[in-house]
This record gives sequence, structure tokens and C-alpha cells, in this order.
Amino acid sequence: MNKKAHDASILNDAGARAAADWRSRDLAVLWHPCTQMREHPDTLPLLPVARGEGAWLVGHDGSRTLDAVSSWWTNLFGHAEPRIAEAIARQARTLEQVILAGCSHPPAVELAERLLAIAPRQAGREPLAKVFYADNGSAGVEVALKMAFHWFHNRGDEPRRTRFVSLRNSYHGETIGALSVGDIPLYRRVYAPLLLEPLFAPTPDAYAAREGQSAAACAEDAADALARLLDEHPGEVCAMILEPRVQCAGGMRMHDPVYLRRVRELCDVHGVLLIADEIAVGFGRTGTMFACEQAPADPCVGGNGGVQPDLLCLSKGLTGGFLPLCAVLATQAIYDGFLDDSRERAFLHSHSYSGNPLACAAAIASLDIFDSDDVLVRNRDTAAKMAKLAAPFASHPLVADVRQAGMILAIELHPEPGATEDGNAVEIANRRGPRMYRAALERGVLLRPLGDVLYWMPPYCIDDGQLALLAEATDAAIEAAAVDVA
Ligand SMILES: Cc1ncc(COP(=O)(O)O)c(C=O)c1O
Repeated sequence: MNKKAHDASILNDAGARAAADWRSRDLAVLWHPCTQMREHPDTLPLLPVARGEGAWLVGHDGSRTLDAVSSWWTNLFGHAEPRIAEAIARQARTLEQVILAGCSHPPAVELAERLLAIAPRQAGREPLAKVFYADNGSAGVEVALKMAFHWFHNRGDEPRRTRFVSLRNSYHGETIGALSVGDIPLYRRVYAPLLLEPLFAPTPDAYAAREGQSAAACAEDAADALARLLDEHPGEVCAMILEPRVQCAGGMRMHDPVYLRRVRELCDVHGVLLIADEIAVGFGRTGTMFACEQAPADPCVGGNGGVQPDLLCLSKGLTGGFLPLCAVLATQAIYDGFLDDSRERAFLHSHSYSGNPLACAAAIASLDIFDSDDVLVRNRDTAAKMAKLAAPFASHPLVADVRQAGMILAIELHPEPGATEDGNAVEIANRRGPRMYRAALERGVLLRPLGDVLYWMPPYCIDDGQLALLAEATDAAIEAAAVDVA
């Protein structure tokens, strides 16, 4: 062995020991999110990460794993992106945190100005005009729900509007209010006795379309059902919340954008506020800066299309994936509804880290990258490459559907035989999800299947070689799913 190879092998051994050490220290003290801890370490191997570099997660031994899920859909331009890292460091040397009640700071103001300037617009509507900060997505959903309820309360409408409408198969976060308006049984069912009871409208999900029905017709049907639901509950509903274009946690289920136009119209007819939860799909994920922009114009009215919600929730990619932050954008009319001499009519909601200067600085740096790097144009090219690489999966006997919305691509398998909704009928170690997860990880790719759905949601900086690796690992994951372990 020459000296270089010898040094490398010593380094590798040391790296492997460090990884093992971090794994056991971790499992001794940590309780991981969204995890059945019993599955660690055997069913789900824990991946110790020493650092990040672009789309790679780098291990203590230097091994590289492709972050195909953008670290829970947060990362936009790659890990440790130097321009965002520098902006945070600069801000940390200037002002790291200050109470946002009664105080102001430049990053909070500048970010609000920039977000309002790029927020979805719709002809004939007053633009979104104010920004309220929370410090994570679920907290932002709570803000939007409370704001909607409180706005009607301040108006004094009788009877009170106390209900929300949300979609079947939706996901809006984990806190009690956000979980209430979600509809994923695995997350919701246990807590149901604690939760609000929203009115659930049918999902416009195109995968659930009837045989031979187009995605647009399926969306129109769902909108008709929503119209009936709102008719049945006149004056009861304060807001409708939805994930525009893609129900992400619900299995990357996608709908035709005509649904967005119909929802906007129906909310207007019924005097209901529209909350767009673009926490996962905002910032270029589905091809446009915001998914709401994709609603087609009403043929009777013309114009450019796009819908504007009354409340818009943004998080995850907002900071480029560096720091937790949520911005809830509201119309002037909603803001004005809280102006009064009474403090109780004010929106007294707060979080200690609301509008944290470091997070706002990261978000501003991230918006700068959109401006300087022509991100949406590059993404169109990358999305086309993803489509080409995934096309062959459609003919695999195990695959039921391949679908895509910009930088989100999903491969849905036929349901696992013998599996219940949460997979309990199949012995834990043999479940298809963990098998697919392990197969991809062995090939150096972090894929986290959502039930029967394998999906790609990579950082926008993913390159051709990494895309090829992603396709290879996906192929291996599907083959692992195909293995008969019964
Ligand atoms: C659409 C949507 N809304 C809300 C949330 C909750 O965000 P957070 O995880 O930051 O609380 C998520 C998280 O995945 C999401 O996908």
C-alpha cells in the first residue's frame, strides 16, 4: 500500500469509528422526530452527518449521501451555501435576536418588503400587504387559523363563524390547530379527541380520478363538492386552508390548478377567507415562485390567471433551508380588522423568536440567489431531466403512477399486499418502506418513502451525475420493494 492509500485507510477507519460513536451517543440521549424509535438502529439505520456540501450529506468517514429530500423539503440551494452562511455570520456579528414586539430591525423589515413584492397577485384584488412572523411552519398555520377566526370575531358577525374547511388527505403541521386541519390518519387519529373538527372537503387529487377522467375534470368535481359543503354550512366557516398544487405529506398527490381558481371563487361567494399553505410548495418547488400563480385565468374574465389568497403561509425554503422561520402574509383588510382601542381586538399571538434577525438575513440572502442565479429557469431544465430519468419507472409492474410538479417527482407503487394503513400487518423489519429506504441508502441516496410513494424533492443545485445516482438508487429501492419476504 502506498503512503496516500495507507493514510486514507487510517482516516476511513477513524471516520467509521467516529460514526459508530455518534450513533451510540445519539441513541442514548435523543428521541427523533416522526420516528418509531424501535426501528433504530436495525430497521432504520441512523445516518450520522458530519457536514453538508451542496446536495451531499458527508459522513465522518467522508462518505457521501445524496439528500434527495432536501432535508424535509427545506433546502433550496444546497447545504452550507456560502452566500447564505456568510449573510447569517454577518448578521450574527451585528444583531442576533431582539424582541419583535415594540422593536424593529432591518432584516425583518427588508424581508417583509421583499416578500410582499413577489407574493402572488390577482387582478382586481387588493394585494397582500402585511407580514406576521412565526418561527416554524406549524406555528405559521396556527397564526393563519387564529387570525381568520379573530378577524370575523372582531367584525361581530352573528352567528359566529367558528369552523374551518380543509381537504381530505391534507397536512398542515403537528401543533393542535394545524393537526386539526390535517387529514392523515397516522398522524391525526390518536389525538382526535383533542382536536377541532373541521369540515373536510374531497381532495381534488388527480391520482384518485375516476377511470378515464381527466385531472381537470376531477378537480372540477372536487370543487363542485366543496360548493355543496359550503352551501350546507352558510355563515359557519371562517377560512378554507389548502396546499396548492401538491399535497406533499399526503403522498405527493397533485391536482389540476383549475381547482385553485374554483376555490378562490367559492370562498368569495361564501365570504370565506382563503389560506394558502405554501410552506412546502413555495419558493419555486412546483415550477413557479408560488404554486398559487398556476391557477388558469377564468375564460370569461381573461387576464393572466393566478389566485391570491387572503393569508399565505411560507416557511421551509424561506430561509434557503438554513433556519426556522415562517412568514404569514395578510391583506390590508385583515390587518385593519384588528385596529382598535381594545387590546383584546389586537392579534396578541407571539413567539419568542418571531422575526429572528438571523433567520430573516438568511431569507434575504436566499431571495438574492433567486435574483442572481436565474433559479426558476435552471429548475425547468432540471425538472425536464428528472422527468426523463423517471419515465422508465412507469412501466415497472410494481409502479402505479409517476407524476411531477416541477422539482417534485413522485413514483407511487401499487399498495403493499397485506399492509394496513400504517403498515402494521407486516412485521416491522420486513416492511416495504424501510426496505426501500435501506436499499437507497446503501447506494448513497437518502430517500424517505411516504407509504407507497417514493419521491424526489432534491436541492435545486443537483447536477447530472447526482440525478443519475438518484435514478439508480430509486431503481434499487423499487427492486427491494419487489422482493418477496413473506
Ligand atoms: C404543507 C405543510 N404545512 C405545514 C407544515 C409544518 O411545518 P413545520 O414542520 O415547520 O412545522 C408542513 C411540514 O411538512 C407542510 O408540508
